[in-house]
Amino acid sequence: MNVGAEGDCSATTLAARSASFRDGSPTEDGFVPSALGTRKHWNAVYERELQIFQEYGDTGEIWFGEESMTRLIRWMQKHKIPLDASVLDIGTGNGVFLVELAKFGFSNITGIDYSPSAIHLSECIIKKEGLSNIKLKVEDFLNLSTKLSGFHICIDKGTFDAISLNPDNAIEKRKQYVKSLSVVLKVKGFFLITSCNWTKEELLNEFSEGTWLHGV
Ligand SMILES: C[S@@+](CC[C@H](N)C(=O)[O-])C[C@H]1O[C@@H](n2cnc3c(N)ncnc32)[C@H](O)[C@@H]1O
Repeated sequence: MNVGAEGDCSATTLAARSASFRDGSPTEDGFVPSALGTRKHWNAVYERELQIFQEYGDTGEIWFGEESMTRLIRWMQKHKIPLDASVLDIGTGNGVFLVELAKFGFSNITGIDYSPSAIHLSECIIKKEGLSNIKLKVEDFLNLSTKLSGFHICIDKGTFDAISLNPDNAIEKRKQYVKSLSVVLKVKGFFLITSCNWTKEELLNEFSEGTWLHGV
């Protein structure tokens, strides 16, 4: 398992505000469009990680490191989130955070990702861990196809960062993200977001239409 430092994006960094990013010029909001914002990129990443998992049993990258998962679970403990609360992990990647939540005792957890290979990898990892009560779905958060709604807790670890780098109208995609969030999160629910591209203040501003944002 590759583990990045706390709050750090590790190897393939998503931190794209720097002018040194090679594949484009910054858009009006300062982000440089990048392949990191595309489904093609993530499909390729998780196809490779799936192969590595099948060959060596390595679950792959944990974005923001192990500590990021501990920090989120600690927050949920501190705020007395009941273990049967419905939790949605938006852009779950390899699903390792879902495994951590299930091991901690959360019993109503769902992971979505628009990359079928990410969901396949998550299924394999969850199966190997002997866990069966985790729901997984291939789902584009910006184009929700099913009636995903009523979640008590929505978690995003690096997904909004990736979406912010989409080469095709990222500003519109970010607005769509906020709309989708308002559909899936129930009133008085919590949205926990971990980011390395945005400051807490910027996120609060970006999600200002809601009164439910908690930066972690
Ligand atoms: C930086 S990775 C983080 C993965 C995981 N949350 C973690 O912490 O390891 C970003 C993830 O967001 C997913 N993603 C990006 N845009 C998405 C979208 N519109 N809908 C669903 N998933 C998306 C990618 O496939 C990828 O798994």
